[in-house]
Amino acid sequence: MTQAATAFNFILSALALIVLQLQQLTNLVASIQRLGGLTERLRQIEAQNIEAQDIQGTRIERREGEHIEIRNLTLMTPTQDSVLVRDLSVTVEPGRSLLIMGRSGIGKSSLLRAIAGLWNQGSGQIITPPRADLMFLPQRPYLIDGSLRQQLSYPASAEAFGDEPLVHALEQVNLAYLLERLTGLDADTAALKLSGGEQQRLAVARLLLRAPKYAILDEATSALDLKNENLLYRALLETGATMVSVGHRQSLMDYHPQVLEL
Ligand SMILES: Nc1ncnc2c1ncn2[C@@H]1O[C@H](COP(=O)(O)OP(=O)(O)O)[C@@H](O)[C@H]1O
Ligand SMILES: [Mg+2]
Repeated sequence: MTQAATAFNFILSALALIVLQLQQLTNLVASIQRLGGLTERLRQIEAQNIEAQDIQGTRIERREGEHIEIRNLTLMTPTQDSVLVRDLSVTVEPGRSLLIMGRSGIGKSSLLRAIAGLWNQGSGQIITPPRADLMFLPQRPYLIDGSLRQQLSYPASAEAFGDEPLVHALEQVNLAYLLERLTGLDADTAALKLSGGEQQRLAVARLLLRAPKYAILDEATSALDLKNENLLYRALLETGATMVSVGHRQSLMDYHPQVLEL
């Protein structure tokens, strides 16, 4: 009888274990779930760090080709503290000008810097035609000390163009009045004190003279009124140039079959 009672108690406590420990078991499940979540999150953070390191070490690959082509470009600032563009692919074939839009500080100029080869932090490929086929116009034109002839011919030398094309270019950008204010093409330009818009038009005149295959304009007509801006873009199109422009005005879409919104 005693042995039977002991055996019964053994079996009873063994079978009742789960019922008696239910409270603790529930606590254990909750703890396991929370620890599981934590481990999962830690794993994610680690993966992100590895991705960032992957980009930090690498450079954008550059090649020469027929036209401007960007493949899977991820672009970072030189200080590597922010990613400006992630996995961008775009092709600018001849006649398929590209307009880049987006709010200030988003990375429009930086993208052009990357095309120019000034910035190389990131990954992906940028293919551009040879240097001689490209011409860049920054938002604030670079003016040189010298005569109007030198100013217009830049970056070529003063002998590069005859009088006629120089005067024609001035007329195209509505700056022919400068010839009257000065005593001709060989007068010094320092006294002119050109306004921001006049400087931008002068820079576009350089572009019209040189007529590159690709013209890259970083808000290069931002100081101009709508009418003058349209005039310049029409003149640019007539040279047969394909453009990559940064600009804010909707009207620019008329001159660019492709639009990239950053
Ligand atoms: N030399 C630099 N080093 C680090 N960050 C830069 C540098 N130049 C610009 N940036 C940053 O990169 C971002 C994009 O700048 P930018 O391309 O000039 O803008 P936007 O679209 O107005 O042209 C900005 O946040 C700017 O502060
Ligand atoms: Mg800019």
